Amino acid sequence: MRIERIKAFIEEKELDGVLITSKPNLFYFTGSSPVLGGYLVVTLDEAMFIVPELEYEEARETSKVPVEKFKTGKELYERLSSLKLRKLGIEGGTSFSTVQTLREKVGVEEFAAIDEVIKELRIIKTPEEIEVIETACKIADMAMMAALEEISEGKREREIAAKMEYVMKMNGAEKTAFDTIIASGWRSALPHGVASDKRIGRGDLVVIDEGALYRHYHSDITRTIVVGSPNEKQRDIYYAVLEAQRKGVEAAKPSITAKELDTIVRNVIKEYGYGDNFIHSTGHGVGLQIHEWPRVSQQDETVLKPGMVITIEPGIYIPKFGGVRIEDTVVITENGARRLTKTERELI
Ligand code: GLY
Ligand code: MN
Repeated sequence: MRIERIKAFIEEKELDGVLITSKPNLFYFTGSSPVLGGYLVVTLDEAMFIVPELEYEEARETSKVPVEKFKTGKELYERLSSLKLRKLGIEGGTSFSTVQTLREKVGVEEFAAIDEVIKELRIIKTPEEIEVIETACKIADMAMMAALEEISEGKREREIAAKMEYVMKMNGAEKTAFDTIIASGWRSALPHGVASDKRIGRGDLVVIDEGALYRHYHSDITRTIVVGSPNEKQRDIYYAVLEAQRKGVEAAKPSITAKELDTIVRNVIKEYGYGDNFIHSTGHGVGLQIHEWPRVSQQDETVLKPGMVITIEPGIYIPKFGGVRIEDTVVITENGARRLTKTERELI
């Protein structure tokens, strides 16, 4: 079905074929993920997954597409040349050196971008994909629970992140979905404050942003706490973010656009007077990549549809003071959105 969609694109654009080389897309179309990658070639008549010889056995075990192997670059270019790929569809992210090699050694004369068709497929998750993402989210919830138990005055941010990674792996995760963010005190004002060797202090806001990678799919959750009792300003920004996040989850449904959802969430933060401190978009799609389509931002007018998986993650960041972010991964359903990350949100 997925390969058929590419074939329809080849026909529509009068291409000789399509070449896919990025790992998320190779996994999406073949079901295989060799460490060294490979070359998925689709033409109107056939599809083949060409991999380095050392990956051959593994690819044959896992790939839904017939597998071929190559020993040397020369052998690979000869095989590709035999397919007469003069007009070739490739991913926008294909490296410049690969494009040059395709021109010089494979005889490709013209390139077309295939990103739109891949986006159209991957943006709607199948029930099977949603099930896997839901498990990735459950593991992220377990890691969050561990963080909430572990965080205390005097511990280093990195120690907390290490315990979380252990919990993830013990519960089936391949690894973290991205470098775990544990940002305490002044560092909580950094939206991407990856865990450092800073010791957590009394009265610190602590932003915990983490996710698990499970069977190639990602999860993403953020919670914020205060070590000890929150002061008035910490409470103010916390409850502004919490209200914005809750309104976002309630508003997410088919037929509104990603931009409209961003506006609803952004307006709550603005009403509290912190519009200038919300310095990123409301969220992003999650799947085989941690950041994919749609972008829940002012720049993305994608209409939400059942099966899309997105994050809703407003934040307020005040340099030198600290920050708050609350985030859930949610799936768009027939009439709303369902939270896949479920850790309690009201934590101060
Ligand atoms: N969880 C990290 C991010 O969304 O940028
Ligand atoms: Mn996120």
